[in-house]
Amino acid sequence: MAPSSVAPHDPAAARGISRRTQSEIYRAGISGTKPRVPVDADALEAAARRALSAEAFAYIAGGAGAERTVAANRDGFARWQVWPRPLRDVATRDLSIDFLGVRRATPFLLAPLGVMEMAHDDADLAVARAAASLGVPYTLSNQASFPMEEVRDAAPEGSRLFQLYWSASDELNASLLRRAEASGCEAIVVTLDTHLLGWRTRDLDLAYLPFTRAMGIAQYTSDPVFQQLVRERARGAGTMTDAAAPPVRVTPKAVAAGIRIARKGTALTGSGLRESLRSPLPRAAVETFLDVFSTPALTWGDLAKAREWTSLPIILKGIVHPDDAARALDAGVDGVWVSNHGGRQIDQSVPTIAALPGVVERIGGRVPVVFDSGIRQGTDAVIALALGATAVAIGRPYAYGLGLAGEAGVREVVRNLLAELDITLGLSGHTSIAELGADTLRTV
Ligand SMILES: Cc1cc2nc3c(=O)[nH]c(=O)nc-3n(C[C@H](O)[C@H](O)[C@H](O)COP(=O)(O)O)c2cc1C
Repeated sequence: MAPSSVAPHDPAAARGISRRTQSEIYRAGISGTKPRVPVDADALEAAARRALSAEAFAYIAGGAGAERTVAANRDGFARWQVWPRPLRDVATRDLSIDFLGVRRATPFLLAPLGVMEMAHDDADLAVARAAASLGVPYTLSNQASFPMEEVRDAAPEGSRLFQLYWSASDELNASLLRRAEASGCEAIVVTLDTHLLGWRTRDLDLAYLPFTRAMGIAQYTSDPVFQQLVRERARGAGTMTDAAAPPVRVTPKAVAAGIRIARKGTALTGSGLRESLRSPLPRAAVETFLDVFSTPALTWGDLAKAREWTSLPIILKGIVHPDDAARALDAGVDGVWVSNHGGRQIDQSVPTIAALPGVVERIGGRVPVVFDSGIRQGTDAVIALALGATAVAIGRPYAYGLGLAGEAGVREVVRNLLAELDITLGLSGHTSIAELGADTLRTV
């Protein structure tokens, strides 16, 4: 079954997506075909659990601590209910929004998800193609599995934003932003909530962090500044990230990890696997990454540097407190992104849907407000948009679709969310996203 697609940037193109989607699914059902990518959010997650390795599923689904924030992000939507208003002629509905000065076909973005090679070999390339076919901007992760230039080449017509993790090297940050601009990204999303890696219980119990196996570091290994840092480190030879760390025991798994690191390292050595296995560069790349990745000392004062590094709009991701929203405005940023990283950073954190109204109020329409963490249904998106989000970002569900059916799987997940959004819009008596507002909802 070929899922319906939407032409990029065409506001009219998403019209009728719900009818087309229902029709495709029910018609296929006549021949006994059920969707291979489940429509139900829990069934989708369960199918991905079956399809993915234990490590991949834990990395994608897992959250911090006892995962109370992960649960609260979803449960938080239960506070709001949609008021149905019939007899309003909703035959033609428009899902388009204005975002960063461009009319977009839908109110969705794809959130940045790192290490998508854990879900599918085509990773970000498949995601970029699916997003482009639906007219949905794709926020490319700093921890992507493919360099941003290759992602552009996979779907040159698609709209892309680049997400930056502010590393300890300003030269590297500047270089990444230069590349983002040169490769056609429309904005920079600076993620602020990951200056320390969260306490991810599932990953800890599996003793598995993909970056230590050279996964999810393609933006770095393809970067000339990073490559220079790696060469300098390799000249210093054999330095461990943590000098007190015990040596890695040689087991079959350690050998497999070594081969994977060497294979990834061919991007740096410019040679084949055999030479890469002998070169110190691949391991030095992993160690350099682990050293530079996070900057717990980052402050509001540092943000001004980003303005020197790029002329692109800057959006701050990880804003959940109204006072920080106000500070973001003072800092002159071009947008804020309400997110708690899908509950992966702090356990028992504020659910984002509860934080959204306060941030929206403080922003007062001056810059766009993107929302994520917990969007599993089209109705969730309606609630976030009615509470004042400009756009809504989808996270884990598209990773599950990717794991189940690659590019087509991502497309089906996003299409289903769009279809349900469209239906909820119409059934609640609205014909456009702009009509959604406080009187769309009732609090319980
Ligand atoms: C597997 C995975 C990887 C992620 N990688 C990144 C990343 O590289 N950069 C980033 O800013 N956020 C990252 N996030 C957070 C997402 O951008 C988004 O905030 C989160 O997934 C929203 O929560 P939800 O998926 O539960 O809706 C990641 C989330 C997941 C699940």
